[in-house]
Amino acid sequence: MSVAASLETSPELAPLIVKPIGIVRNEIREPEYIEWGEVCSRLEIAEEWRGALQTVESYSHLMVLFWMHQVESCKIVHVPQGRYRDVPAVGMFACRCPYRPNPIAVSVVRLRAVREGEIDVIGLDAIDGTPILDIKPYTPVLDEAKGEVRVPDWVHKLTY
Ligand SMILES: C[S@@+](CC[C@H](N)C(=O)[O-])C[C@H]1O[C@@H](n2cnc3c(N)ncnc32)[C@H](O)[C@@H]1O
Repeated sequence: MSVAASLETSPELAPLIVKPIGIVRNEIREPEYIEWGEVCSRLEIAEEWRGALQTVESYSHLMVLFWMHQVESCKIVHVPQGRYRDVPAVGMFACRCPYRPNPIAVSVVRLRAVREGEIDVIGLDAIDGTPILDIKPYTPVLDEAKGEVRVPDWVHKLTY
């Protein structure tokens, strides 16, 4: 019989420490629902990790993992999605809302330029000052879904 993992009793679920590797810089100062597709951001990489940018410019797209630092700690389980009509409440793990147990986000962005210690990207949905956790090159053979992709109908009613 399997025993459900619990935050109280499972040592594997003890808190972890993550260390940002850089900061997002752009003109969006507050969390808001806008169309982020053409927003330009500069990713400022911490001095210690600048060497890790070697050959990043050979990719067209990157995956940026970031910490939505202005989300207050949250125990939300069901997301009402009240901003949208005809969109059902869903479990938090069934949507991309920023309210999460760990406010970690991932976005695929277009790479515009790489300079010493900086990357210019387009389409990152993170506000100015957001801590960056990691950067990975978008690699279709790894990142494209295998098999037929299914999403619920309500996903098409949202704006991105
Ligand atoms: C819906 S989340 C999705 C993030 C990512 N694309 C994902 O799917 O994991 C994006 C929203 O989070 C909010 N946001 C961005 N940066 C944030 C930050 N540092 N703190 C709090 N909220 C943030 C903005 O309102 C933005 O529209």
